[in-house]
Amino acid sequence: GLKIVTIGGGSSYTPELMEGFIKRYNELPIKEIWLVDIEQGKEKVNIDAKMSQRMWDAAGYDVKVHVTFDRREALKDADFVTTQFRVGLLEARIKDERIPLSYGMLGQETNGAGGIFKAFRTIPVILDIVEDMKELCPNAWLINFTNPSGMVTEAVIKYGKWERCIGLCNVPTIAMMKEPIALNVDPNELIYQFVGLNHFHWHKVYDKDGNELTSKVIDAMLDGKDVGLPANINNVPFFGEQIREMNMIPCGYHRYYYRQQEMLEHSLMEYETIGTRGQQVKETENKLFELYKNPNLDHKPEELSKRGGAYYSDAACECINAIYNNKQTHMVVSTKNRGAIPELPEDSIVEVSCYIGAKGAMPVAWGKLPSAQRGWLQCMKAMEECTIQAAVTGNYGLALEAFTLNELIPSGENAKRVLDELLIAHKNYLPQF
Ligand code: NAD
Ligand code: G6P
Ligand code: MN
Repeated sequence: GLKIVTIGGGSSYTPELMEGFIKRYNELPIKEIWLVDIEQGKEKVNIDAKMSQRMWDAAGYDVKVHVTFDRREALKDADFVTTQFRVGLLEARIKDERIPLSYGMLGQETNGAGGIFKAFRTIPVILDIVEDMKELCPNAWLINFTNPSGMVTEAVIKYGKWERCIGLCNVPTIAMMKEPIALNVDPNELIYQFVGLNHFHWHKVYDKDGNELTSKVIDAMLDGKDVGLPANINNVPFFGEQIREMNMIPCGYHRYYYRQQEMLEHSLMEYETIGTRGQQVKETENKLFELYKNPNLDHKPEELSKRGGAYYSDAACECINAIYNNKQTHMVVSTKNRGAIPELPEDSIVEVSCYIGAKGAMPVAWGKLPSAQRGWLQCMKAMEECTIQAAVTGNYGLALEAFTLNELIPSGENAKRVLDELLIAHKNYLPQF
């Protein structure tokens, strides 16, 4: 039987992950699941473990859920390691949001200065995890969900030199779930191709005869139909002229770049009224753990759909299933470019359509991109590279370079102030600086 290790086991997404494994148990013979957390996550991870065990028992499968605060104990002989941890907990996220917003800049979990600092805090930890894996489970796969998912995956592969790593996000999953509903077609009859980076990809859609349906999805989206916007993103509409001209379906996060002014105005309004997204999530999370505590609850509650990461298990568990059973399933994941986007370095991590099987993810080549998309990707990738280099070295100049390249951070005195304030605010989680 398989040994699965989940680092950041105290996440409120854990029951969702369990549901995904339970659904696939006939193909994925899991024997034990180890939830790894830290002292501060003790209460949450213990609630999750009991809830998870109830879910497995209710399903009638003989799977044992363990909790440990000793990562190395869990990693010994693991087959698959999934990561869903948050260095500095939600308090750190709230600082990532509030400090930039207090200077009139976007503060967001994976975008702008907040996303850069989440990378700074997370990358040293993931690189330590990789070192433990080299020693304790050298054949395991690392399925990373920890944000910023694309940059964390790039750090693992480029700097940790650990190739058996795939980065995940639920955004493509939700798109492929909702678009067939919006078009009223059978989901199995659609062909998708995605290209770009994590939280910065576009895609096209075709029917089973190969006819392109992209413009139909764009029309549905511009008509206000649900084509899969995650719950955490405000629905500012795209400009129709721009999207119809590009004829590629942008992801939800493109709003921060194509309608920066409106997205910032909305975030500032929330910051001054109901609080930032992190503050809102805190309440949702408290409610979820109250529910999970109920000894009669043995399935994932509906309330979890309020979190932006809903349906994450459909990506994580299916990816593991596809590797284990060499399924060659189409999935959109973060993996090494290898020429799929010829205008980016071959060793950059990109989020593109892939076929997943025993040798991992094989990316589908997109080829030449139009000027706008090529330019965006090159600039975003340069920003990501500087962020990762700064995270690894603790170099202040490189951190400022990443800030300057970030489209959501206007350069100048205030950018430097935000950088300095965030460095102080997160001091305890930034040993490299
Ligand atoms: P959370 O705040 O509940 O954190 C999860 C757990 O991580 C907590 O129990 C915490 O104690 C633990 N933790 C913190 N530092 C740790 C460490 N060094 N080692 C082990 N455990 C540690 O987080 P969440 O809201 O459930 O999100 C978890 C992660 O998943 C975040 O990084 C988030 O950004 C990411 N996420 C990704 C996607 C995606 O699409 N890829 C979607 C949603 C969330
Ligand atoms: C989105 C993304 C995640 C993101 C998260 C935020 O859908 O794919 O990468 O960080 O959900 O959700 P939350 O509920 O924590 O704001
Ligand atoms: Mn994501």
